[in-house]
Amino acid sequence: MNRRYRKTIIAGNWKMNKTPSETKAFAEQFKAILPKTKWCDIVVCVPTVDLSAAVRAFKDSRIAVGAENVYFEKSGAYTGEISADMLADLGVRYVIVGHSERRALFGETDEIVNKKVLAALEAGLNPIICVGESLAQREMGVTMELIALQVKSALAGVSAEQMRRCVIAYEPIWAIGTGKTATGEQAAEVCTYIRSLIRAQYGARIARSVTIQYGGSMKGSNAHELLSHEDIDGGLIGGASLDPKALMEIVHAANQE
Ligand code: 13P
Repeated sequence: MNRRYRKTIIAGNWKMNKTPSETKAFAEQFKAILPKTKWCDIVVCVPTVDLSAAVRAFKDSRIAVGAENVYFEKSGAYTGEISADMLADLGVRYVIVGHSERRALFGETDEIVNKKVLAALEAGLNPIICVGESLAQREMGVTMELIALQVKSALAGVSAEQMRRCVIAYEPIWAIGTGKTATGEQAAEVCTYIRSLIRAQYGARIARSVTIQYGGSMKGSNAHELLSHEDIDGGLIGGASLDPKALMEIVHAANQE
């Protein structure tokens, strides 16, 4: 991380876990152990049905609420979908876009991811754009090509001003929910590459201001090492974000020098 130029953001991704009542209980416990220091931003991304409970529970705190998905159309006959304006009106500030689970299980293509990024930005939300390779792709030696394709297509049509509001999360699929974390070097290599892609498209000033997170089995015991790398500006945390104490351990790691 590099706090001089950009925000460190620790974000939880609850995936399909917790009810609205459990959301409220989490918020009370988490707020009670929140440190006074404000060196990192904290975002909790929750299932759609938990959003209003989360917004209410975190209202008077510095914790921002994020959604886990959004649809790209503004309104209309899209049964079951949620628009970016609906999220923004609720008080949601972030939205995860292009998570590997959505790409793999729900058919999200790079084109769809791009449309969702644009819709989120237009509604004033900050997209957390996920990119990452599978184990097979890493072993075939195509990681960087794949990352370039995912990053460039996600950002197609995103203006320089909008780019400042984007967060990129590098999440190697083989490290998600497996307990197998990328080493700091492996994660940093890709995060540095992602910043170079942003630099090539938007210039050095914007590139150095963009928060690039790592995600994949991040926890209190490995967070400090990962975050000690200049280009890793935070984490997108699945499993460990479900427990207030486990998530707070990562916040503490991000608060260390
Ligand atoms: P885990 O932290 O459970 O590996 O999940 C990472 C992730 O997918 C966050 O979006």
